[in-house]
Amino acid sequence: MKIIDGKKIANDIKEEIANEVKQIIEGGGKTPHLAAIIVGHDGASETYVGHKEKACTQVGFNSTVLRFEDDVAEDTLLRRVHELNEDSDIDGFIVQLPLPKHISDQKIIEAIAPKKDVDGFHPVNLGRMVIGLPAYISATPAGIMELIERYNIETSGKEVVVIGRSNIVGKPISILLAQKTNPGNATVTITHSRTKNLKEVVSKADIVIAALGNAEFLTADMVKEGATVIDVGITRVKSDKTKSGWKLLGDVKFDEVAEKAGWITPVPGGVGPMTIVSLLQNTLKASKREIYPE
Ligand code: GUN
Repeated sequence: MKIIDGKKIANDIKEEIANEVKQIIEGGGKTPHLAAIIVGHDGASETYVGHKEKACTQVGFNSTVLRFEDDVAEDTLLRRVHELNEDSDIDGFIVQLPLPKHISDQKIIEAIAPKKDVDGFHPVNLGRMVIGLPAYISATPAGIMELIERYNIETSGKEVVVIGRSNIVGKPISILLAQKTNPGNATVTITHSRTKNLKEVVSKADIVIAALGNAEFLTADMVKEGATVIDVGITRVKSDKTKSGWKLLGDVKFDEVAEKAGWITPVPGGVGPMTIVSLLQNTLKASKREIYPE
C-alpha cells in the first residue's frame, strides 16, 4: 500500500500559487481576492471558512468573510450576492452551505454570476464542464483529479466505481473521469443507495471513489487487491483522544483497506486539503479571467 499524500501535494500547489501571486503583484497586477458568505454559526461551516481564510493568507490573496445571522432574509442575502457580482475588487466568492431552511440554496447559487462562481456550483459551470468547455470545477472533484494526475495514476481504460451521486462530488467526478482527457478515459460506474450487489460491483474496480458520507463504510472485502482507493468522507465524531474533542472519519475503513489497496488517500490528509487548494486555484483563474475572458 502506498499513501496518496494530499497534504504534501496541497502544500506544493500552495507554494506554486504563492509564487505566481508574487509575480502578478511585482508586475503591477491586482491581488486575487476571494470572498465568502457564511450564515449562522454551524461548527463545521465555521471551520471550513476559517481554513479557507487561512489558506488565502498563506498564498498572498485578499480574503473577505461576510457574516449573517441565522434569521437573515433570503432577499437580503440575494442583494449581497448581486453586490458581490458587481464588485470589481472581488474576483470570486462562495456562499458556504448549508444555509438555514428558510433560504433556498439553489436560488442563492443561481444568483451568483458564473464568472465569479469559484465553487463551480452554478448550473452554467456544471453544464460547461459536462460538455468539456472551460468551467470552474467544484473543489472536491477538481482536487481528486489533481491527485490522480500528480501521482500518475493511470485512468485510461480503467474501471472506476464511484459510490455516491451528489451534485458536488459523485456526479461531477464521474463525468470528469469518463471524459476524453488525461486523466480521464475511464469506464465509470456510479453506485448509490439503490444499487444491487454493491460489493460485487465495487470489487471489480481498479479505482474506487467513496463519496457517500457514511463513516468507515468501505471494507476490505469490497476492494480488489491493488486497487486505488480515494476517500472523500469526512464525518466528525466525538473523541476523547484529541485536543479538539473531535476526530475525522472517512468513508473507508482505512486500516484494513490499506492492506489490500495499491494507492489510498488517508483521512485526514488526503482529499480534504486538496479541496481548499482547488478553491485557491479557481480564485487565481478568476483573477486572471481565464475561464470567462472579458
Ligand atoms: N459546504 C460543504 N462543502 C462546501 C463547499 O465546498 N463549498 C461551499 N460553499 N459550501 C460547502
